[in-house]
Amino acid sequence: MDVPTIDFAPFLRGGREDREAIAKTVDSALSSVGLIYVKNHGIPDNEVNEAFSWLQRFFALPNAKKRTVQRYREMGREIIRSHPSRREALNLANPSLDMSADQWPTEEILPGFRDFMESFWQNCARLLHQLIDCVSLALELPEEHSLSKCHSRSCFSMGCSYYPETLITHETGPRMGAHSDSCTLTLLFQDPTGGLELGDRASVQGKVSAANFEQRGGTYKPIDFREGMVLVNVGYVMGRYSNGRNKSTIHRVGSPDVAAVPGRTETPDRYSIAFFGDPDPGTIADALPGTYNPENPKRWGPLNIDEYLGGIKEKTST
Ligand SMILES: [Fe+2]
Repeated sequence: MDVPTIDFAPFLRGGREDREAIAKTVDSALSSVGLIYVKNHGIPDNEVNEAFSWLQRFFALPNAKKRTVQRYREMGREIIRSHPSRREALNLANPSLDMSADQWPTEEILPGFRDFMESFWQNCARLLHQLIDCVSLALELPEEHSLSKCHSRSCFSMGCSYYPETLITHETGPRMGAHSDSCTLTLLFQDPTGGLELGDRASVQGKVSAANFEQRGGTYKPIDFREGMVLVNVGYVMGRYSNGRNKSTIHRVGSPDVAAVPGRTETPDRYSIAFFGDPDPGTIADALPGTYNPENPKRWGPLNIDEYLGGIKEKTST
């Protein structure tokens, strides 16, 4: 799958024309492929590398210590379409919100982790806001309908994942089953291990969702790793805001082909950091102005974000 690469520097540092040109390119890529690689995104490589090294230290802690952390999820606690995910996870909410107070390992357990991850979290939030501004610009939204307005409280979350080295075969299933993200946009940082696979919508006729993609014979294409870039992915809510113009991607974490690596029989460790851009609580997400007209009417009614996200949490928290 050829994922377009967008150089984001002209959007961050250029004038109005540069910003509009990038916005149009981003919109066109999100409307066709549903995901883009963004380079020159403003988060330095050394910070991303440091975040991965903190993840390695956190997930290497003894289980008893990890279990003291409120938002840590053990292996096997997540089931997606009958497949238990082969990962451990730590989900970090906005450090500025009261609800986040107990989400950190104590300083005795992992000194320095909280300081670094709080700062990294804010850098990811800044980039997500810039991308949301970019999409708003592409849609030529008036200020009162800007997507930034309904994301202003930054109720985002950072999903840190660790997939241990394992033997993966067709029989064992993927490392994480097929799904679409529920948010507006997702940022995804991966390590070079690879494994992310994009469901090829063209491989299935008619209406398809993550729930029926595999039953209907849908096939996947591997997404390559690109040094220094962040993958940006359309979530379900963006599909609703754009009246279906931006399609949420169906994806999973499969297994890279290890058969070609001499002496290797197991798929190596994988670490990833996904940053999910959920709208503010209380938001009603409806098709935005300009995404519908008499010839192309609204495909859905308004979406109550609290009810929608509440339902997702119920389904995936096991
Ligand atoms: Fe995902």
